[in-house]
Amino acid sequence: MSTDSLFNSVDSIEFYVGSAKQWAYFHEKAMGFKLVGYSGPETGVRDRTSYLMQQGDARLMFTGFLYRQSEISRHVELHGDGVKDISIDVSDINDTISFIKENGVVNPGIVAKQRGEGGIISKAELKTFGDTVHTLRDYGEWDSELPPGFKEMKSVDNSLGVKKVDHVVGNVEENKMDPWVSYYVKGLGFNTFMSFDDKDISTKYSALKSKVVEYGGGKIVFPINEPALGLKKSQIQEYLDYYETPGVQHIALGTDDIIETVRKLKANGIQFLETPGSYYDELEDRVGKIDEDLDVLRELNILVDRDDQGYLLQIFTQPIGDRPTFFYEVIQRKGATSFGKGNFKALFESIEREQEKRGNL
Ligand code: FE2
Repeated sequence: MSTDSLFNSVDSIEFYVGSAKQWAYFHEKAMGFKLVGYSGPETGVRDRTSYLMQQGDARLMFTGFLYRQSEISRHVELHGDGVKDISIDVSDINDTISFIKENGVVNPGIVAKQRGEGGIISKAELKTFGDTVHTLRDYGEWDSELPPGFKEMKSVDNSLGVKKVDHVVGNVEENKMDPWVSYYVKGLGFNTFMSFDDKDISTKYSALKSKVVEYGGGKIVFPINEPALGLKKSQIQEYLDYYETPGVQHIALGTDDIIETVRKLKANGIQFLETPGSYYDELEDRVGKIDEDLDVLRELNILVDRDDQGYLLQIFTQPIGDRPTFFYEVIQRKGATSFGKGNFKALFESIEREQEKRGNL
């Protein structure tokens, strides 16, 4: 059994939210996702409604509760709207679970079979940081685009150019980053991709540490952050205070044309973090020659960073829900495989200005 083929890709990411219908509407009208499936009372599911949305290969699901004291309402009460499940597609769930068990993971999940019109899906729920889980899904005996219990929805394709989920970032408590990295590396067979310490990612006031784990040569990429000590509260600590536990901080959506994607997102009213004008004055000295027009990047507040393999363009939204917790990144890679380390300082100074407005710095 080859251990580099146990996990295929991020299958879908499920949010537990206060109003799934509103989240679906927002992602359809503002974020360019197409509604592809729905499940709820009309499809025989009594306790929840779920909207499955897709743009390129990125699949998101928004699930809301119909009754109090459900696991969904408890999750929303504690965390606000947020990510519950980073589901992973696996080739052979029994091989994957045996491998995880052999590595000493205490609670590797129990394989359950779910039947539907498309056949059988075998799945197991693997716990990760906070209340977040990875549902492992084996589609070997399944032949349908939709999960069991979902009906197909016809909606217009208004893609903004998002092609895939580039990476999904978790925030964990101080001194918990290394244990979680070890969980992914020793427990699940992931590789450590790169790490930053608080010297890389710090501003005058707040700081964080970050390590990245990946699987299958970058097919699945999970950076993990923890707060580091600064003069004032780390943005990771602000997240933990509002989310109440560790959880998913952001999803990076990959595009092949960030200028086009961001222009459309802005036209749809999506708010992004602002970048200080001085950032663009120094940009060419820092990253060298790039294809894009600097004035356009400045106008759109798009950030640029370079590593030894190329460069990347990225931008971060304001928090999506009410609490200052979850947000999106939009990223275009032009060779670079890193995450914008050189932008962290510029970015965090910008995040801190927002934190200050909320009185949490
Ligand atoms: Fe990111």
